Amino acid sequence: MKKILVLMLLVFAVFAFSFSAYAETYVVGTSAGFPPFEYVEDGEIVGFDMDLITEIGNRQGFEVEFRDISFDSLIPALTTGSIDIIAAAMTITEERAEVLDFSDPYYSANQAVLVHEDSEEGLTILFGDNDIGVQTGTTGDIWVQDHLVEPGILTGNVRNYDSFVLVIRDLANQNIDGVVLDKPVGETYSQGNPVKVVAEIITGEEYGMAVAQGNDELLEKINAGLEEVREDGTMDELIEKYFE
Ligand code: ARG
Repeated sequence: MKKILVLMLLVFAVFAFSFSAYAETYVVGTSAGFPPFEYVEDGEIVGFDMDLITEIGNRQGFEVEFRDISFDSLIPALTTGSIDIIAAAMTITEERAEVLDFSDPYYSANQAVLVHEDSEEGLTILFGDNDIGVQTGTTGDIWVQDHLVEPGILTGNVRNYDSFVLVIRDLANQNIDGVVLDKPVGETYSQGNPVKVVAEIITGEEYGMAVAQGNDELLEKINAGLEEVREDGTMDELIEKYFE
């Protein structure tokens, strides 16, 4: 009798082990320094996007592991297979959709213009001989090139950075005159840094998670999980946690 019990326990343990080992772990690439979507706290990558993809994984039976890389390296990392998912407040654009597959949209945002808190400039900071900071490869970077540099409206320098942490630091130190970045992030940075949002640029962007082109199995899981998270109120809780 005892032997059978031990045997049963053993079988159960093997089952439980193989089951947990079976739960797929996906590598999620992000570019931290984009609060409240992704940032580093006590050495850990945390934020709205990290919570969201974790909740999606809980519902769809996968685990996640985060990797922090520069924003413009995310797409190459995905196409070469060194990451499985991008969760980086990435705007769904046609150009990007040519090389990767986006999930359903999960957040809407516009661009914003930031200046030092002592500055009296508004949108005008983008005109003439001013130095403007952007994160390389972002929609803000592209907007500045297309709408300011090419038509010759901005004649100063566009300063490119790998991380917004450094952009904000340079603005706080008045090494640059203005910054263009996603409004929710600009607002977060203006709390606790000597910088302020002075204008909004209506770009009507929507964020999506991304997977490699043709990875339909994973994309379906993400979309199904996203829907569950929306329906069961978790999305509202996350918005409240990070934005209110
Ligand atoms: N939404 C903008 C874009 O897609 C900026 C995203 C920057 N994200 C980040 N995690 N640093 O280009």
